[in-house]
Amino acid sequence: MKHIWIDCDPGHDDAMAILTAYAHPEKLHILGVSTIGGNQTLQKVTQNAKNVLSFIGAEIPLAMGQSGPLVKPLNTAPEAHGESGMDGPYFSGEDYPVVSENAVAFMHEQILACPEPVTIVALAPLTNIALLLRTFPEVCSHIECISMMGGGIDHGNCTPLAEFNIYVDPEAAHIVFHSGIPIVMSGLDVTEQATVTVAQIDSLQNRGRVSHLAYELLHFYNESGHQFGFIDSPVHDLCAVAWLLAPEIFRGTKRYVDVVTDEGASRGQTFADGRPIPAHPANTLVLEQVDREKFSALLLDALARLDHVGKAE
Ligand code: BDR
Ligand code: CA
Repeated sequence: MKHIWIDCDPGHDDAMAILTAYAHPEKLHILGVSTIGGNQTLQKVTQNAKNVLSFIGAEIPLAMGQSGPLVKPLNTAPEAHGESGMDGPYFSGEDYPVVSENAVAFMHEQILACPEPVTIVALAPLTNIALLLRTFPEVCSHIECISMMGGGIDHGNCTPLAEFNIYVDPEAAHIVFHSGIPIVMSGLDVTEQATVTVAQIDSLQNRGRVSHLAYELLHFYNESGHQFGFIDSPVHDLCAVAWLLAPEIFRGTKRYVDVVTDEGASRGQTFADGRPIPAHPANTLVLEQVDREKFSALLLDALARLDHVGKAE
């Protein structure tokens, strides 16, 4: 059993990651969920997290984190996720409690109180995590690993070189990559292979209440993905959870990864030291390949599980 903390900015793919983790209580114990301004403003992504958690009847502590990055103003991504940050379904306004408006302090408390080391699942700009590590350095020895969606060695999406989560807050990412905590990086190199097809998305329609919710989310997300050249939909954030559930479906290499914080064309780029003798020891397992069939089956199976345990209509 792994104890995990999910830091997120839902976000269609964040929602898939939360649902899949929640569907596997035998393997993953979700200690808590925190939100961070990213895909949309903090208020909006927190509402989205409430909607998802409430829809599945979860009783997981939800904490609100930072509204924006450490240094620069927030860049949101309405073109990918819509004005709400998670467009597609209609939520009936169900509410869900926020246990703390200071996610960094709350995470610190919860992680130290956990009898075993905790894995952080980071699905958004790394601001909350960087603040946690800097404010409470004693927490580092209680963190087993950070499984993050972020970056890309070969290319970016927000800019040619930088992926969205890192681009939004490169200073925070720099702190995390230099923290000494083992990192598993699901960057664009692997997450763009981690797709669900249109036929798979369509198969979710009316299959069950949670599957249907995923259909409404993924249908919107698939259409918005066309403008970026995607036919099928990369479920980026789900990789960070899928690796915890089924590491055998991934291939990766341990590398030394760093982040560009300078102004200019490469701001937010993640790069690996590819020299035969790198200047620093490896700090990151960079995931490079995933078995797409098994990855998408993991999502579809998780949703089917939740169809049976979700709240009654
Ligand atoms: C990442 O950016 C966000 O839009 C997604 O939720 C994901 O975390 C992909 O670049
Ligand atoms: Ca995200």
